[in-house]
Amino acid sequence: MLTNPDCITPFNHDDPALVAEADGLLDRAFGIGRRTKTSYRLREGERPVEGLSFGLYVDDDTTGPTLRAVISFWHLRVGKQGHQAIMLGPIAVEPHLQGTGLGATLMRHSLKQATRLDHELVILVGDEPYYAPFGFSQVPDGRLILPGPVDPERLLFCELRPGAFDDVSGLVLSPSRFRHASI
Ligand SMILES: CC(C)(COP(=O)(O)OP(=O)(O)OC[C@H]1O[C@@H](n2cnc3c(N)ncnc32)[C@H](O)[C@@H]1OP(=O)(O)O)[C@@H](O)C(=O)NCCC(=O)NCCS
Repeated sequence: MLTNPDCITPFNHDDPALVAEADGLLDRAFGIGRRTKTSYRLREGERPVEGLSFGLYVDDDTTGPTLRAVISFWHLRVGKQGHQAIMLGPIAVEPHLQGTGLGATLMRHSLKQATRLDHELVILVGDEPYYAPFGFSQVPDGRLILPGPVDPERLLFCELRPGAFDDVSGLVLSPSRFRHASI
């Protein structure tokens, strides 16, 4: 399978055709109920993190290079102090190509890039067995509160700077909700 990072390109959220293509991929990977998830509430009305959205193209000889996997990140503010963090997601791979390494390629590429861009803390909601090899661990129960239901076993964090999670706790909000909450 083609997992060369060269087939990863920056994803332009301002390109409606590309966004529609990615939406189709996300619906196929997650199912159409995906927008009811708590993580979507944290993205409403926000812009994704600059420089951390990617599309992965696979050329299977019949269709030419085709978007087969996507990943994005979003800004978060945590607790009364408003600690900065980023939320990973969604990450999705076209169902018939899942388990062939595309997700891992996107994870490694985007986390490396996030470190280069000086982001320090990543939070996500997902399967710990999948994300642990990339450096994610379960958030200690009750330390972070999301604005909706989340299975605590699926709430994960990854320090891109050692110690970045040490003094972080409390309510997790999108930047605009945090601004309103602090007025
Ligand atoms: C989750 C997802 C992004 C992973 O991408 P992928 O390309 O299928 O995964 P990879 O091929 O890179 O897998 C890498 C490893 O993780 C394992 N793995 C994949 N999904 C897993 C899961 N849910 N739990 C545990 N391990 C998993 C693979 O078996 C593989 O292990 P190996 O390296 O020991 O062989 C993809 O399967 C997907 O889009 N799923 C549907 C949408 C989704 O659930 N997104 C994530 C929401 S948090």
